[in-house]
Amino acid sequence: ARRQRIFSGMQPTSDSLHLGNYLGALVNWVALQEEYDAFYGVVDLHALTVQTEPAVLRERSRRTAAQYLAGGVDPARSTLMLQSMVPEHTELSWLLACHTAFGEANRMTQFKDKIAKGQSANVGLFTYPILMAADILLYDADLVPVGEDQRQHLELTRDLAERVNGRFPGTFVVPDAYIVKGSAKIMDLQDPTAKMSKSLSSDLGLIDLLDDPKRITKKIKSAVTDPEREIRYDVDAKPGVSNLLVIHSTLSATPIAELERAFEGKGYGDLKGEVAEVVVAALEPFQSRMAELMADPAELDRIITAGSDKAREVASVVLGRLHDALGL
Ligand code: ADP
Ligand code: NA
Repeated sequence: ARRQRIFSGMQPTSDSLHLGNYLGALVNWVALQEEYDAFYGVVDLHALTVQTEPAVLRERSRRTAAQYLAGGVDPARSTLMLQSMVPEHTELSWLLACHTAFGEANRMTQFKDKIAKGQSANVGLFTYPILMAADILLYDADLVPVGEDQRQHLELTRDLAERVNGRFPGTFVVPDAYIVKGSAKIMDLQDPTAKMSKSLSSDLGLIDLLDDPKRITKKIKSAVTDPEREIRYDVDAKPGVSNLLVIHSTLSATPIAELERAFEGKGYGDLKGEVAEVVVAALEPFQSRMAELMADPAELDRIITAGSDKAREVASVVLGRLHDALGL
């Protein structure tokens, strides 16, 4: 039987990912490729909703792909693609746009949030959820690992797939959200009530996957905690300590209850010291693999092109079904 297929992607909007991207997405992707037929995209077309210097965007796309690989995405097992190398994404986006009601697109809250935060409103940002629907439907994905912030977009994807299937049965696979069990949400080290975020976190609040051991240690030692002394997991009362426990637990594969026992009678300094060691040790192989990948640009480009070619083979078949249905 065909393995179930998943699609996920990240925008190449920074030179390196942060610990939240790693523990909340990349680590899960690597685990999922064992069981699923996984498609992982560097979604550079989405990144165009914000204007970036061309050379910077190109380099970020390559670096994002390299980080997928450094984190353990295996191109022999998964399909790693650069979205702009698969023009079917853009075409399907248009075909889906013609099936989207204006009012329906207008209800997307992430667009409104971004505008409210001052991002300038181009039509690409408005139709972003339709391009995301195309990303998913193009590969007949059964499952999509999504965070809370993307849920509404996945609902739109499902509605569009069902609408097209209503006219032309069997055109699309209708995808389900995939909630990764035990997936970690990493909080800002300086404001542990907010998630670690490349756009909102301060330098000290965020651990960059390429930070050197000294910086990592400094950032974790400066993490905001609380005036108590007890090392206990309690997100509401002790968000900072809870965040450190989550980071430790996820990276060391130690249950939080076990960590609470091990740190009984110890201080926050002890916890921070050990969390720093765990993070440094976990990122060391990632960083050395990343350095190797960036040292061989031709090989990196070969992997990206081969993955994108493989993605196109699937995408063109799915798009072909819609062409036939629509009379194109
Ligand atoms: P995008 O690139 O799609 O705009 P982000 O850059 O916000 O998304 O995040 C990329 C991926 O990393 C998403 O899967 C998101 O859920 C995950 N992620 C981002 N920040 C965190 C965090 N602080 N904790 C856990 N997961 C996170
Ligand atoms: Na996001």
